[in-house]
Order: sequence, then structure tokens, then C-alpha cells
Amino acid sequence: MNVSGQPYRTIWPAADGSSVEIIDQTQLPHAFAIARLTSLDDTAHAIRAMLVRGAPLIGATAAWGVWLALCRDATDSGLAHAHATLLATRPTAVNLRWALDRVRAHVGTLAPAARAGAARRLAVEICDEDVALNRGIATTGLPLIQAIAARKKPGERVNILTHCNAGWLATVDVGTATAPIYAAHDAGVPVHVWVDETRPRNQGASLTAWELLNHGVPHTVIADNAGGHLMQHGQVDLVIVGTDRTTANGDVCNKIGTYLKALAAHDTGVPFYVAAPSPSIDWTLRDGRREIPIEERPPREVTHLAGRLPDGTIATVALPPEGSPAANPAFDVTPARLVTGLITERGLCAANADALQKLFPER
Ligand code: MRU
Repeated sequence: MNVSGQPYRTIWPAADGSSVEIIDQTQLPHAFAIARLTSLDDTAHAIRAMLVRGAPLIGATAAWGVWLALCRDATDSGLAHAHATLLATRPTAVNLRWALDRVRAHVGTLAPAARAGAARRLAVEICDEDVALNRGIATTGLPLIQAIAARKKPGERVNILTHCNAGWLATVDVGTATAPIYAAHDAGVPVHVWVDETRPRNQGASLTAWELLNHGVPHTVIADNAGGHLMQHGQVDLVIVGTDRTTANGDVCNKIGTYLKALAAHDTGVPFYVAAPSPSIDWTLRDGRREIPIEERPPREVTHLAGRLPDGTIATVALPPEGSPAANPAFDVTPARLVTGLITERGLCAANADALQKLFPER
């Protein structure tokens, strides 16, 4: 995607040949900053502290992290340490394990001297593949938006609600949930996006809004609790969200609050779609609510909020009274029965085991 007219991905190998650069997402939307990762520890920190976040980007970053680790220690124990360290950073997005297992399987059979180079080439491949998958999701999802536009009066906008950030910032490029939205906008379909602010980390207000503004897509930031009301009043034509892990049965784990949007959509008859690239499908699990590990993040993310003051400085303020405990489950599971369809790179698919199996017979 373009930032101030310059094309960017969210992660890329640095020109020095020995490090990786990322967009530091903790600085957005108030500053566009590039951070450098030079080691395994840098990479683990970037994922844990959410300088990079979003399931596909977490996986891609981990692949680069293995390369950085192997540049220093390419022994079997170095590889095992890198895999374990990165796997422990965030538990929910299955893309992390997917990428780490893939790199380990690929380089583990090679002589240590060949490992770092092979890991680097595979990290490049995983990044390029992510972009291609997301383009596939744009192709699958665009007709859904076009079909709604076709039922409307000419020029009447299609209202799409999204939760969290499943845009290009959550991936290497293009995005998942927003990919069909960008495609529709670029094709001249009048779209408007309701952006859930997405407490407590506010990925909607800070990242999705920034992306959409940057791309010129009409949008409105709303409090998380507003979605159900808008759906009841016919102001949402469809919901598209991303996923951190979708089970083989079609249960969808995504950012906390997604489930409530799915319930409201179900009650009001609004189609609820999930953009699900195949690396976010966990073929080993069936019951999302029981089996998917839900990340518990620090309570401080709930009790404190950072924002920009009129003089441009960034300040952090406390919300509840000092001493009130807070809890911070970061994801929830939407049961497959509430999901209208999965938008995959291979096509649209019902959220159930048979349909998923038909689309991905090799699994
Ligand atoms: O905690 P985050 O910001 O990593 O959570 C991100 C999400 O929940 C996204 O919706 C999900 O990873 C899909 S991104 C294409």
C-alpha cells in the first residue's frame, strides 16, 4: 500500500543485509515510524509488544525472526530455541505456529551452514505468498460487495462494518477483511466502512481508520457498542472481519468483541463474513470455544489509554479508579453457526467441515 505516495509493506529485509525493518504500529496513527529488528530477541519483543500484530504479519515476522536467530546460531539447539522463543510470544494466531513449523521443517534437514540463507529465502517466500493469498481474498470478496451495490440505487453506498484491524497493516500487504473493500473502492463501488474502535488496544480507531483515510475510503469510527444499534436500523449491509484461528469446523477466533458483532448480525439478518486465508485455518482443531488458547493481555491495556494532546505530545491516561482490577482477554470465538461464509483465497465457503474440506481437499 502507499503511504504518502510511497509503496510500503509492513515488513521487509533492510538494505544492510543483516536486519529487518518493520512499520512500528504502536506509533500509529500519530507517527509513521520504522523500527529495525536485528536479533531473535528484537523480533520476539516486536511481536509480544505488538509493534507488529495481526495474524498473517505475526507469522511472517516470526519467519524473519528465525533467520535473524540462525545468523548467530544455526545449530540444532539454536533452531529449537528460536522456534520456542517465537512460539511463546502470542498464543492465539495459528499463523505463528504455521510459519515457524514451516521454516523449521525446511531448514532443519540442512547443514547448519546452509540454514540461515535458506531461512531468509523462505521468509521472502512467506511474505510474497501472504500478499498473493490476500489478493485472492480480494477477488473472492469483491462480488459480495458488488452484489449488494447492484441491489441499491445508483450511487447509494454499501455500508460494511469491520472489527479490529484486518487491513494491510495486519498482513504483509493488501489485508484480509479490508482487501475486498479496497478492491470495491478501487473499482468505483461506493463503499463506506463502520470502523469499530476495538477496545482495549483500539486497532480499529488507530490502524484501520488510518489505513482507510490514507487510501481515501469513506469511513466512520464508532464505539464498539454501536454496531448492534446500526444493524437494527439498516445501516450495515454486511460485516467482514478477519480471523486469528479458524477451526476445521468453521468456528472463528478473532479480536475480542467479534462474537458480539456476530450475534447482533445474526439477530438482525446482516450477513457476517470472515476473511480467512488458509494459513489461519487450524486443521487440528474442531471446537473453537474449548480448544483455542485465548491470549490474556496485561490489565493495563484496559485501564490506561494513550492519545495525542493538542500540542502533539502523546499522553497516557488512567480510566478506572486506581485499585480497580481489570481483565483483558484479547480474543473470542464466534461459533460457525453465526458465520455466513468464509472468504478464502480459493473462493467463498460455508463455515462447516464439509465445505472447508471440499475447498482444501489436501487437508
Ligand atoms: O491483537 P491483534 O491486533 O494481533 O489482533 C488482530 C486481529 O484480531 C485480526 O482481526 C486478525 O489477526 C486477522 S488479521 C488479518
